[in-house]
Amino acid sequence: MIPDHSGEDIQNRSTVSEEAENVSYVTSKRSGYVSRAHRNPLAIGGFRVPLGPPWVPWTELYPKIAHPQVRIVDVGSGYGGLLFYLATRVPTNHCLLGMEIRTAVWRLAQEKLLQQRALSRAYERVAFLHTNAQRYLWNYIDRASLDVLIFAYPDPHFKRKKHRQRIVSRMLLPLYGYLLRRGGRLYASTDVEALYEWMYDRLEECPLFECKCRLVERHGKSRFNPRMTEGPSIGQEADPLSLQFFANDLYAAAVRDWTDEGQRVSRMQGDKFLLVYEKR
Ligand SMILES: C[S@@+](CC[C@H](N)C(=O)[O-])C[C@H]1O[C@@H](n2cnc3c(N)ncnc32)[C@H](O)[C@@H]1O
Repeated sequence: MIPDHSGEDIQNRSTVSEEAENVSYVTSKRSGYVSRAHRNPLAIGGFRVPLGPPWVPWTELYPKIAHPQVRIVDVGSGYGGLLFYLATRVPTNHCLLGMEIRTAVWRLAQEKLLQQRALSRAYERVAFLHTNAQRYLWNYIDRASLDVLIFAYPDPHFKRKKHRQRIVSRMLLPLYGYLLRRGGRLYASTDVEALYEWMYDRLEECPLFECKCRLVERHGKSRFNPRMTEGPSIGQEADPLSLQFFANDLYAAAVRDWTDEGQRVSRMQGDKFLLVYEKR
């Protein structure tokens, strides 16, 4: 049985958590798993959570690591592709933690992880949690402990009345700042221009963060500031500092291109938007 830190036995899952949570329609199938497209991140319940980081069962998450130090968190980790990519590339004393709200998706990532761990010790430093990060991130992560906080292709929540469900928000950014150490970085990628603008506005107005990189790639071409309303107009040359940052930063390219969703967008030749902000 796979340990599930939401407190459920996944073999009996269909009756407990999915009913308890506010879930919407079934849409996708992958490797025989049926997955629900969305779960409401504002819904209360469905997950059992520790009181705080000292109560997290770290030895279950990282059984072969003596004192795991989570330095990299991937919020909405999906099928886990990004953390599998990063595991062999980051310093060996860094642990990586993915958080995923959807049961079947988390379960698939977890199964893949067990297979990867059989192949290489590097994956012992990766773990996936089944939880609602929007509500419970702070129950798992200590203040000023993170180097990297990732939001790769978060759900766009297109409708105006659903904007409050967006994971990069005015209310949540100070809390992300609380978890990042000074100099730690927040990465956000998307293929939805409206969401990019939303996240850019929220990050710019938050005094805890300073912009390090923003990139727009439209069909393989990078441009600086695609915003229609202000600043340089579409078609302007790339911002050299952002390009330089991108060229020298492991996470920037990974968050844009090496997540499962990033690869799907590449295959579809979709637009890609990337923001990197540093905690002041
Ligand atoms: C569009 S997918 C992107 C997945 C992955 N980051 C990637 O780039 O391939 C967004 C993921 O975030 C998850 N998610 C949405 N809200 C969440 C929350 N509050 N806590 C944890 N995961 C969440 C969704 O279930 C979904 O798997």
